[in-house]
Amino acid sequence: MLTLGIETSCDDTAAAVLKDNDILLSSVLSSQDQIHTRFGGVVPELASRKHLEAIVPIVQEALDRASVTLKEIDLIAVTQGPGLIGSLLVGFCYAKAISYVTRIPYVGIDHMAGHLLAVFLEEGKPEFPYIALIVSGGTSSIYLAQSYTSFSLLGRTRDDAAGEAFDKVAKLLGLPYPGGPRVSAEAMAGNSAAIKFPRAWLGRSLSFQGGHTSAGASPVVRDTTLPSSTVEDESLDFSFSGLKTAVLNHCNQSRQKDIPLQIQDICASFQESIVDVLVEKTLYAARKHNIQTIVMGGGVSANPRLRESMLDRCQQEEKSLFVPRPSFCTDNGAMIALAGFYYARKLVPGSYDQDVYSRSQI
Ligand code: KG4
Repeated sequence: MLTLGIETSCDDTAAAVLKDNDILLSSVLSSQDQIHTRFGGVVPELASRKHLEAIVPIVQEALDRASVTLKEIDLIAVTQGPGLIGSLLVGFCYAKAISYVTRIPYVGIDHMAGHLLAVFLEEGKPEFPYIALIVSGGTSSIYLAQSYTSFSLLGRTRDDAAGEAFDKVAKLLGLPYPGGPRVSAEAMAGNSAAIKFPRAWLGRSLSFQGGHTSAGASPVVRDTTLPSSTVEDESLDFSFSGLKTAVLNHCNQSRQKDIPLQIQDICASFQESIVDVLVEKTLYAARKHNIQTIVMGGGVSANPRLRESMLDRCQQEEKSLFVPRPSFCTDNGAMIALAGFYYARKLVPGSYDQDVYSRSQI
């Protein structure tokens, strides 16, 4: 069975051809980073226009590289949501149009299902059930995955996604978009203990270290060096907006005192705060649900420090960790094709009056 996967949820136009559930014949991507970098973030209108230009050649290139024609494709899998509506519409309408003309069935895929399953594109495959940490520019969520099409949301961000926090901090430090890879590159040469930024554990009482608290909540100052067992009664939700504000405050205070910004130390300390919370909450979820296997996905899981720290903690707690290669962590057409392979068995083929959606349905 040949599946054509199409992904246009944000600023990458991507397509792939997958044979059955494990032989990737092609995976191509057109990045818009250069277009958005001068604005410090994705400009939705520009993103949709660039998708319009790229969609036909990118799909054709995916078919050419796989040495197949459209007629040989058995299923079209396309991202239906979540994402930028204008961007999603380009890929979704294109997929519906070629499906209508060729009579090849199509299936609309939730982008999160793609990230949750991307790890199965690799040789080493996890077994169900597993705990998945999906962290990208639009999402920071923890799921319990029970099968290829059955996922329960255990926790998610209450404000910024982790990738969004990386991008916003990069912008305020004057680093170019996309900020995540630049912040992690700067962090490599920095001291992660140089600045004590807050970790938002979101326990039964709001607990921030050094950061703000919401009005009316009693602040609980937590020592971030406490062992992981101390987060046993914490929420599995995330919050990164306080951390972003703490970085801004640190920069403003340094400027007021005429102290030069130590960009590498700021990046390393900020990154460590995010990584600590992502890792400990994921392991807490695994302990709470008695799960032995952990999976990561989404653009931020390409972060080397997150991968290293998660591996260390998984080894300490005797859990197995599965993380796709960085190009399968960030947006790609292969994961959408793979999700399509499994969802086509569960869903009836898409009808032509379906529409895109901006919030994940998983
Ligand atoms: O999954 P993805 O490609 O697109 C979305 O669906 O959002 O993720 C993109 C996000 C961006 O916020 C980017 O800054 C972040 O992932 N990212 C990283 C790294 N590489 C990409 N964040 C931290 N460290 C990285 N190495």
